[in-house]
Amino acid sequence: MDIRDLREEDGEEVRALWRSSGIRARPGDDDASLGALVSRNPGLCIVGTENERIVASALATFDGRRGWLYHVATHPEMRRRGVATRLVHTIEERLRALGCPKLNLIVWDDNEDAMRFWEAMGYQRDATVEYSKRLDAT
Ligand SMILES: CC(C)(COP(=O)(O)OP(=O)(O)OC[C@H]1O[C@@H](n2cnc3c(N)ncnc32)[C@H](O)[C@@H]1OP(=O)(O)O)[C@@H](O)C(=O)NCCC(=O)NCCS
Repeated sequence: MDIRDLREEDGEEVRALWRSSGIRARPGDDDASLGALVSRNPGLCIVGTENERIVASALATFDGRRGWLYHVATHPEMRRRGVATRLVHTIEERLRALGCPKLNLIVWDDNEDAMRFWEAMGYQRDATVEYSKRLDAT
C-alpha cells in the first residue's frame, strides 16, 4: 500500500470508502470543506492506495494545541492487515514533528470495533463527554 495526501479530485472515491466503511456522513465531507481541511493541514490528511484505488483514509488537524483525528477507515476487504495502523502511525509521526503534544478523536458509543482498534493503538478512553452545536443549521 502507498500512502499519499488526499487530493482535490478524491472526494467521490473517499466518500464511497466512508460509506462502505460504515462512517456516517458528517458536516465537512463535501469537496470544498475537504479542500479547506487539506490546505490548512498539509501532510495530515492522507489516504492509503493500492493500484491507485483508495483503500483507507485518515484525516488529521493540528490547531496549535491539540491534534484531532477524523474518518480513520479501512475498506472492509483490507481490514486486519495493519492498514489503519500505518496511516495512524504516519500521522502521529508528522504531528510529533510539528510539536503537537496530544492527539484526540471521537468514537461513536456503539462502535466497539473502533474502540478495540484505538486501545490496540495505545489510546486511552477519557472520562469526558462531548458537546456540540450545529452552526450550519437554519
Ligand atoms: C477501525 C478500523 C479503521 C481498523 O482498521 P484496520 O486496518 O483493520 O486496523 P489494523 O489492521 O491496523 O488493526 C490493528 C489492531 O487493532 C485491533 N483491531 C482492529 N480492528 C479490530 C476489530 N474489529 N476488533 C478487535 N480488534 C481490532 C487489533 O488489535 C489489530 O491488530 P491484529 O489484527 O494484529 O489483532 C476499521 O475496522 C474500520 O475502517 N472500521 C470502520 C470505520 C471506523 O469505525 N473507523 C473508526 C472511527 S473512530
